[in-house]
Amino acid sequence: MTYPELFAFLRERGQEHVLRFWDELSEAQRARLEEQIKAVPWDQIGLRAAEAEEGEISPIPCMTRAEIAGRSGEFAAIGADAIRGGKVAAVLLAGGQGTRLGSRSPKGMYDIGVTKRLYIFEQLIRNLQDVTGAVGAPVPLFIMTSDKNYRATRAFLTAHGFFGYPREFVRFFKQQMAPSVDLNGKLLLEGKGRLALSPNGNGGWYASLRHSGILHAFPKVEWLNVFAVDNVLQRIADPVFVGATVASGNLCGAKVVQKVSPEERVGVLCLRGGMPSVVEYYELSGEMANARDAAGGLLYGSGVILNYLFNAKKLKEIGSARIPVHVVKKKVPYLDERGELISPQTENGYKFETLILDMVRLMGSCLPFEVEREREFAPVKNKTGVDSVESARALLQKNGVQL
Ligand code: UTP
Repeated sequence: MTYPELFAFLRERGQEHVLRFWDELSEAQRARLEEQIKAVPWDQIGLRAAEAEEGEISPIPCMTRAEIAGRSGEFAAIGADAIRGGKVAAVLLAGGQGTRLGSRSPKGMYDIGVTKRLYIFEQLIRNLQDVTGAVGAPVPLFIMTSDKNYRATRAFLTAHGFFGYPREFVRFFKQQMAPSVDLNGKLLLEGKGRLALSPNGNGGWYASLRHSGILHAFPKVEWLNVFAVDNVLQRIADPVFVGATVASGNLCGAKVVQKVSPEERVGVLCLRGGMPSVVEYYELSGEMANARDAAGGLLYGSGVILNYLFNAKKLKEIGSARIPVHVVKKKVPYLDERGELISPQTENGYKFETLILDMVRLMGSCLPFEVEREREFAPVKNKTGVDSVESARALLQKNGVQL
């Protein structure tokens, strides 16, 4: 496009300000900016909230810890067989920016040790090795990064010899980026010739994994255990979880913990319009959040911990099905009118993200699999307080991990 064409194209969309520094850009910078502009998903960056899902919310029965304990031998055998048959892969979601933790490096590089070093990645790999060691077979590990942290993540894991995990079973892939806008819906710049782009949320993991071609190298994989980078206590490729999901006939499994209180801000697994879905805490009415079952437990108490098992065939089938885009208010560093980079102290813009929790509904069936919070859930979201480095350290120590 010529400059007038590009200007007209942007003007039509109320975004011509992104050409503000055009005169100062080199030919290469101009070409790159034009490329970014053409890649903007214009239909997805409006400020309307994600359309609310339709359908009445009702509770979903969960496979309880007592039930799991009673059948754990049977489930573990099924899961271990699947792992030995190369049918299970693990997908580590590490493309987030970890803004709440506030570290400049990828979150997995955070040292949660006290008297010695213990990186988050290291602890996660240890958790996976507990399984591969016991089962006697490796689990392919696919690591999702973003444009922002791919190099640092790869260099770090390579420098540390993948913490002893067999390199030939590790693959990296990149998620897509999405532009951010200010509170009035105007695209933000992060450089004179660069739109402010950020990872497009963890809901794009399957599309990006598929696009990467990695799955072709692992044709036997039937189940993908997708997990977050920040829960240092979680069991990965847990044979009991895999076995229970397979035995249940569901196409998806979700590890859940009982909510600590009706107010806890965590998504809960339930039925919506008869379909298994994760509803966000703010979608439940006060009455629903407080409702209890006959045994006194919270009726909507199955909190998801971002550890899911997805059936690969079903994922392929749902392929590019539309996942709702969520508009999330965040602090976005941006270039002001004078060309100075501003790091805002308060939320100044919106990012557009798709979320993995919305995929549960697309899978059509899901087993809520209850785990013990104190043994499997220690998320590192914040520096201090709730779900923090401090609380995760305390939980690790409680579980016998030397820090
Ligand atoms: P969070 O929702 O905690 O987001 O991610 P975050 O970006 O890591 O942290 P904050 O909100 O900025 O503090 C949950 C999981 O999803 C991954 C994260 O890496 C984490 O494992 N994620 C999130 C992605 O892989 N890509 C994304 O675009 C967002």
